[in-house]
Amino acid sequence: MNRRYRKTIIAGNWKMNKTASEAKAFLEELKAQVGRVKWCEVVVCVPFVNIPMARRVLKDCRIAVGAQNVHHEQSGAYTGEVSAEMLKDLGVKYVIIGHSERRQYFGETDALVNRKVHAALNAGLRPIVCVGESLEQREAGITNELVTMQVKAALAGVTVDKVRQIVFAYEPIWAIGTGKTATAEQANEICELIRATIRKIYGARIARAITIQYGGSMNAKNAFELLAQPDVDGGLIGGASLKVPDFTAIVNAANQE
Ligand code: PGA
Repeated sequence: MNRRYRKTIIAGNWKMNKTASEAKAFLEELKAQVGRVKWCEVVVCVPFVNIPMARRVLKDCRIAVGAQNVHHEQSGAYTGEVSAEMLKDLGVKYVIIGHSERRQYFGETDALVNRKVHAALNAGLRPIVCVGESLEQREAGITNELVTMQVKAALAGVTVDKVRQIVFAYEPIWAIGTGKTATAEQANEICELIRATIRKIYGARIARAITIQYGGSMNAKNAFELLAQPDVDGGLIGGASLKVPDFTAIVNAANQE
């Protein structure tokens, strides 16, 4: 973390979990625990159907609401999809884009991720763009090349005035939901690489202002060490975001003055 230059952001990615009633009880409890934290931003990326309720429950606290996906077009005949404007209108602040599960199970490509980034930015949403390598790619020694490519592709056509709205999440696929975490050094190395890639395109001032999270089995035990790394500015948390005590512990690890 480097609070001098950029915001630390802890975002929960609930994925396809929690009914509306489970979500409501959870958010009321979470609000009591971390609704007033000062030194980091807390986000819950809930399923679409829980967004209006989440906004109601969280309206008088500091926890922001995020979505997990967005369509790249503004409106039209796209059955089952949700637009950036619809999300913005509900008071959503962040949207996860290009999560590896979307890339893997729903065929999302770097080009589509880029279109979604533009759609989100145009609507005034902050994209959380996920990048990261599979185990095979890491073992083949192509992690740096791949992540650099993913970052450049996501940023294609994004102007200097909008790029600061983007958050990146480095999520090594082999660490997601597996209980295997990247070491703090591995996480920092790739977050630094992402920042260097941004620096080459937009310059040092912008690069140092961008929040870059780590994601992949971050939990109450390892959060502190990961967040202590200079280029790890927060976390995108799946499994551990589904339990109030675990997520609270991670927020507390980030909420350092
Ligand atoms: P995990 O998921 O924390 O359960 O590994 C992270 C993510 O997929 O964003």
